[in-house]
Amino acid sequence: MGKSLVILGSQWGDEGKGKIVDLLTPDYDYVVRYQGGSNAGHTVIVGDKKYALHLIPSGILREGKKNLITNGVVIALEELIAEMDKVKDVAGDFEGRLYISDRAHIVFPYHKLLDGLSEKSKGEAKVGTTLKGIGPAYMAKYARTGIRIADLFDPPYFRNRLESAINEAKNIAEKIYGAEFNLSVDKVYSDTMRMFEKIAPLVTDTSLMLDTALRKGERVLFEGAQGTMLDIDMGTYPYVTSSNASALGLCNGTGVSPKLIGQAEVFGVSKAYVTRVGAGPFPTELNDGTGQKLRDEGHEYGTTTGRPRRCGWLDLVALRFAARINGMDGLIITKLDVLDHFDEIKVAVAYEYEGKLIKDFPASLKILEKCKPVYKTLKGWDKSTSGLKDKDQLPDQVWDFIKTIEEETSVPVVMLSTGPERSEYIWLK
Ligand code: IMP
Repeated sequence: MGKSLVILGSQWGDEGKGKIVDLLTPDYDYVVRYQGGSNAGHTVIVGDKKYALHLIPSGILREGKKNLITNGVVIALEELIAEMDKVKDVAGDFEGRLYISDRAHIVFPYHKLLDGLSEKSKGEAKVGTTLKGIGPAYMAKYARTGIRIADLFDPPYFRNRLESAINEAKNIAEKIYGAEFNLSVDKVYSDTMRMFEKIAPLVTDTSLMLDTALRKGERVLFEGAQGTMLDIDMGTYPYVTSSNASALGLCNGTGVSPKLIGQAEVFGVSKAYVTRVGAGPFPTELNDGTGQKLRDEGHEYGTTTGRPRRCGWLDLVALRFAARINGMDGLIITKLDVLDHFDEIKVAVAYEYEGKLIKDFPASLKILEKCKPVYKTLKGWDKSTSGLKDKDQLPDQVWDFIKTIEEETSVPVVMLSTGPERSEYIWLK
């Protein structure tokens, strides 16, 4: 009987968690998505097929695994259903394979509309959201005007709440943003009920299900979305997502006690460099040829939005912070092979702020803006690591790179990913 495991992003998302979760899934009974929504984009390549998953846990691509979307996730039903269609060739019948929390909140079309209007109104100061309605859906949840999956089992109650929510959204759209609002209660209601029919048999109390599974010693793989530095509480606020994308979101996102969750191991996933989509501080960002080379070699364009990602050197100040707040037991470094193309590799070990050295990631954006990375320069490696599967074949310079990461974060590097395929990885444990 092994431990459960949490896999989460240690940076600003897009660390390659999808592939890692997919390849570790065979050792687990359950795969769980517990926060965020269809803003996430997890790419898994199986044979010659590429699956871009946004809501459904990637365990759906492995036979016999139970996949849970728990209460912390906000669900756009049209996207969930479209995704179910995309994976049905491998998933087959979803009953017994996919479970959806009755406490999860729904993302409605008016949330998407408000996301766009809010971003537009911010002008230069926009967050650069994925426009998937995530912020407005979580706003409704915390304002207690949200609608949960459980509500759909009681159509008159649902319709009542929908009417109020749509009235409110219409007021905001028209009066605050001066925009048109054409969504009718009838249409949203009937679309939702039609879609709900398809998923109703999959709806359950996932908190209870997980509690029972964990107490029985079954193994659960928790799949984080986005990344620690986008966490609503601990990230680079306000340039963050609207959920707890760090391990801090596990208890509220699953409805499972911290005592049970605390028994799981936590592995953070980090690219061998850093990327970020959307706006916000990024101390090691490279706006030069080196940044462009990272983007080209790493194919750094968003899975959900197609936007070019901002690129820069590995930031060990941010990673040290992520290691601490997540209580990381191990680090998984992805896209190592992208660094094959560089003669010199830099990693930030501290920031310089007004002549002082900072080693702890600051909360204030004003301070962050002025932080200059203090780099340690390492030699690039003289041979390709692309697709390597054997740790004995790793060049010495890669070991120096790993040693630097371990020394600076005090977390062992347990795995390297050397290419997009399921098979392209090396366990170092
Ligand atoms: P939202 O989550 O769509 O509200 O976007 C808020 C911020 O999080 C923006 O900077 C997005 O680019 C970023 N973000 C949201 N989801 C992801 C993701 O899965 N990967 C990377 N960045 C993301």
